[in-house]
Amino acid sequence: MAPSALTSNDYIDLPLQTTPPTPPPPVLDASSSDLDLLRPINHGLTEAKRLISQALECRISTIDHDTCDVGDEDAFFVADLGEVYRQHLRWKLNLGRVKPHYAVKCNPDPQVLRLLAELGTGFDCASKAEMEQVLQMGIDPARIIYAQPCKTKSHLRYAAQNGVRQLTFDNADELYKTKQLLPDAELYLRILTDDSASLCPLSLKFGASLDNTRDLLELAHALGLNVVGVAFHIGSGASDPKAFLKAVQDARVVFDQAADLGFAMHTLDVGGGFCSDASFEDMAAVLSSALDCYFPPHIRIIGEPGRFYVSSAFTLACHVIARRTVNDPTLGTSSYMLYLNDGVYGNFSSIIFDHQNPVPRILRAGDRFLYAAHSSGYETPNMVDYSIWGPTCDGIDCIAQACSFPEVIQTGDWMYFEDMGAYTKCSATRFNGFTDKHSVVYVSSDPSVRALLQLE
Ligand SMILES: Cc1ncc(COP(=O)(O)O)c(C=O)c1O
Repeated sequence: MAPSALTSNDYIDLPLQTTPPTPPPPVLDASSSDLDLLRPINHGLTEAKRLISQALECRISTIDHDTCDVGDEDAFFVADLGEVYRQHLRWKLNLGRVKPHYAVKCNPDPQVLRLLAELGTGFDCASKAEMEQVLQMGIDPARIIYAQPCKTKSHLRYAAQNGVRQLTFDNADELYKTKQLLPDAELYLRILTDDSASLCPLSLKFGASLDNTRDLLELAHALGLNVVGVAFHIGSGASDPKAFLKAVQDARVVFDQAADLGFAMHTLDVGGGFCSDASFEDMAAVLSSALDCYFPPHIRIIGEPGRFYVSSAFTLACHVIARRTVNDPTLGTSSYMLYLNDGVYGNFSSIIFDHQNPVPRILRAGDRFLYAAHSSGYETPNMVDYSIWGPTCDGIDCIAQACSFPEVIQTGDWMYFEDMGAYTKCSATRFNGFTDKHSVVYVSSDPSVRALLQLE
């Protein structure tokens, strides 16, 4: 089905259906009670497991390793779009003031983007290709922020030619570039943050310090450029809510500097950094109260969440292509090295680039389908010990150095890994001739998604 063209100048909050077919779908707004919002979340969890299990079993039951064509047995994802939808509800419940602009870099999956487009989010794009992917869905360029403080000139020209005007910057050269190529840009000054408590610090590379912000604003003013707001990012996979408080306070300082120079800043961009675990509610609470304390209601607040939306929505299935038995004659024990058909040069790129420790679980051993049957390979001590490796020739290609399962896993068995939606497929390579195009089976544990995307 062709994606629908959403052309509004602002962000629409579509009526979101929580349970089909009656009662009539509630409109998700500030007046919806917490209970109304949480009901579909709880409902979705068991339904999600059932659908994911079904999709995994259905797919792997069609694969015969002895006869299949090359690629038929490749690793694949199951994506639960209902989980993306529930994360959106969670965002709105906890950060109702912040309009999310999904960070496309995190996982540019086309169905995720379609769903988020229908839900009315904006998009954070960092390159020409990301802008193009979003614009080709019929999205109004006003819903895109080109959130890359150091832009390639041809990509900036593309933005100018296609109506993308919101840009971030953090240095003087970028202002001259903007003056040349997109003089009517709506600029956000990205400031430095304390990102020491994040998985992936970004401030080493991006962000103007408060020592420089006044000079940059003066230059922008002298060049006749329009600085409309401040942006920050407290680091991807952040864990210290106080980083948000400090960043909001610093942003306030820059808003005041800008006002002194005659700029009427109207938007604060609080970036990404939110995790999908229980820390989200704590982070959101600190951020919300900081925003309410330092920024009056007429200031528009946007965010650039990536990981938060997709991490828990994607499950990856891989199979064991080879196994090596390691005997320890001194202890009289045996353990196994398992080689999977995906590794750190593929979808487990998140181990290297995103500092993740994906948790291995058994999906199928022999003819037994074991989805959700055991605890993870990190929680079953004193059983059969394994290390898990990827398919390439490189020794760095290790997925798990030590784990254990109650089963003796054989070549041809399948494993699965949950929470594989963020910074995985998008940073996979084709090293050693392996594919970076792993397929995705979509399910939706929430009927609203099927309705929004007009599936079935
Ligand atoms: C500018 C910018 N915005 C948003 C994001 C998304 O961050 P996260 O996935 O932690 O929400 C990133 C990630 O690197 C980023 O660099």
